[in-house]
Amino acid sequence: MKKIIALAISLTFAATGTLFADAKAGEKLYKSKGCSSCHHPTKDQLAQGMGPSYQMVSAAYKKGAGKAGIMKFLNGEGEPIVAPEKASIMKGQVRNTKKWTDEQRGDIADFILTH
Ligand code: HEC
Repeated sequence: MKKIIALAISLTFAATGTLFADAKAGEKLYKSKGCSSCHHPTKDQLAQGMGPSYQMVSAAYKKGAGKAGIMKFLNGEGEPIVAPEKASIMKGQVRNTKKWTDEQRGDIADFILTH
């Protein structure tokens, strides 16, 4: 029994470690793929013709569709839920993120959800 508990605990830590590793990889994409030019971690820049903060995106997706929902959106399969009236600005970006791998879309979703 003790062994099983120890195993469960170490698996939990391993899973958490992976999440952080993915979020770190996502942060690199955020900086290298131009997302940071429109999305600030905490500052809403919609009024300036740029994007909502990742805090806003995270809050909207945490209410429902979660990580899978962000991945779907970035694969061109989801409807915008944060600022649909500004969706045309983000559309060109989705044309790029559609060409990413599932792993990359998952990494950036993990990063967004850390906000
Ligand atoms: C030219 C500015 C711009 C750039 C660059 C940009 N975005 Fe956006 N993004 C927006 C705007 C504006 C919205 C709000 C419209 C909307 O909700 O789709 C948005 C919304 C989003 C959303 C929420 C979609 C929803 O459900 O409403 C996600 C997720 C997102 N962006 C991810 C990214 C990622 C990842 C990148 C980098 C590959 C990126 N954005 C680059 C402007 C930008």
